[in-house]
Amino acid sequence: MCGITGYTGPRQASRILVEGLKRLEYRGYDSAGIAVQQENLANDGSIELTVIKQVGKIAALRQAVPKDLAGHCGIGHTRWATHGEVTQTNAHPHSSCDGRISIVHNGIIENYQALKEMLEHSGCSFKSETDSEVIAHLISYHYDGDLELALKAALKHLKGTFGISCICADEPGRIVGARNGSPLVVGVGEGEMFLASDVTAMLAHTKRVVYLNDGEVVSLWPHEFRISDSDDQAVDPKIDHVTWELDAIEKEGFACYMEKEIFEQPDSIERALKGRMDFEYSMAKLGGLNLSKKELHAKQRVRVIAAGTSWHAGLVGCHLIESIARLPALAELASELRYRNPVVEPETLYLSVSQSGETADTLYAMREVQRRGGTVLGICNVVGSTIARESDGGIYVHSGPEIAVASTKAFTSQLAAFYLLTLSLARMHDMSHHEGAVFLQQLRDIPGLVKKALEQRDRIQVLAKKYAHNQDFLFLGRGLLYPIALEGALKLKEISYIHAEGYAAGEIKHGPIALVSPETPSVFLVPNDHLREKTITNMKEIKARGGPVIAIASEKDTEVAAIADDFIPVPDCDSRFQPFTMIIPLQLFAYFCALELGKDVDQPRNLAKSVTVE
Ligand code: G6P
Repeated sequence: MCGITGYTGPRQASRILVEGLKRLEYRGYDSAGIAVQQENLANDGSIELTVIKQVGKIAALRQAVPKDLAGHCGIGHTRWATHGEVTQTNAHPHSSCDGRISIVHNGIIENYQALKEMLEHSGCSFKSETDSEVIAHLISYHYDGDLELALKAALKHLKGTFGISCICADEPGRIVGARNGSPLVVGVGEGEMFLASDVTAMLAHTKRVVYLNDGEVVSLWPHEFRISDSDDQAVDPKIDHVTWELDAIEKEGFACYMEKEIFEQPDSIERALKGRMDFEYSMAKLGGLNLSKKELHAKQRVRVIAAGTSWHAGLVGCHLIESIARLPALAELASELRYRNPVVEPETLYLSVSQSGETADTLYAMREVQRRGGTVLGICNVVGSTIARESDGGIYVHSGPEIAVASTKAFTSQLAAFYLLTLSLARMHDMSHHEGAVFLQQLRDIPGLVKKALEQRDRIQVLAKKYAHNQDFLFLGRGLLYPIALEGALKLKEISYIHAEGYAAGEIKHGPIALVSPETPSVFLVPNDHLREKTITNMKEIKARGGPVIAIASEKDTEVAAIADDFIPVPDCDSRFQPFTMIIPLQLFAYFCALELGKDVDQPRNLAKSVTVE
């Protein structure tokens, strides 16, 4: 969703701002802009704000920004429209009537209509249809020589969520920011400072960062920064060191980020497991749970809260926890849980699963559970993200930055975290040391098996060419592979815009079978356990009705290969671990279908990587 960049220092601000916005492209956006403090040489040399905005890609903004645009301090924004259409006027930054103050805003101002009326009454004229513009006018209304004081006064009027960054022509070199519900990070450089909604925007310049908390306000100058909290007390900043490397946010020779991230999975899964497999005690070492063994043992149930792909990982996780650790477990959509007045019991362990750690639905649902006394552990990728910080403990999945909107490597890393947690819980209940050792050995082999599954790349590309022009698909699986079918269908929808339904294979006769026709292919995930025969029966039901079948099954399964119209083999392994091998061909299939149809794989229409609004 929307992204913020800010820079103050000796370098040309416009370049750094636009380059930062380029790094934030992956979040999803429809327009972009910058505001820079610039000396008016034609006049008396006083500072003025130059604002440049464009609809469309960052490339369009880059073209619109004069190469020699001077100025060493500025703010930038990528907008994902919520209030008001996608137009140049609605793009950020927004400015006060006199043009002396410019702001960028992420989030939603709920009471903007009332504020707008009040400001119009006092003589302000509004240019855009956005909720954000009220912030510029409010700051201007309160401005009396100190931007931070004016912003703090403006904040008192605002209801809603925000990450705000602003500059004033009368205060050269100063950026002021405020956070409430939308992330803001300070980047500490040598004689220069950065402010952004996401560390990737500044990774090329500094790895020393300070994550702002809700209610905090920051002032930045090239050589210093100052943070105060909602009570106006100075905050002693904690500088964190980002471990992500710049390489991780480059394409490194791949055509797009999604392809790179799919092929990175043997390594990213390895990272998720690294140092966490305890072969001596056949246990998982999960140091961040912040629960004593007794506290963890006392948990009687597990509930996952998540959205999108993370929810699918949660469905797999719950299946594992219930079938292997023998604790009742359910994965729930965060957007549903929050508003259904949930019963929260102290003996339930809640898991908030989120790649970004910023998804509004998941965050609010988690807060609702915490408000009712629940213990929530986070399973997150982004270190320092809001969910990671607000949860009571958790597991970082260490997949590294995921840039493509469609999640791939974060999903398999989340799975890895669930397998480790399952082992921990199972060993606390009735899994023997020996069974634990076997489970760990199988888990250790997963990166190698995923690597082998990726070798089917060329075969899958050929299949994508054959099938990409179909309008509808069914993705079918049972047991642990049902969530994988859901995830396969979601991947195809997200990036190729082909209609795809994920369904439990046993459920097709209760409705979806009516969709089966020669034009509607079914992708079957066939396990190698007690559900294999049943899945084959479902496959035959589809074939009998003229539906084309693409089957994914163990490389040894010659029977399935013979029944299916097309067959994708995956390396054979214990069925408990098949989610890892089965998701790979589905990710590749979606990717190659989108390529075949000429879609923008990394930034699909209408979608955002991190959805910070409800
Ligand atoms: C968005 C993204 C999805 C993602 C979901 C949950 O919809 O487009 O790819 O699965 O949010 O995101 P999270 O960061 O919480 O895992």
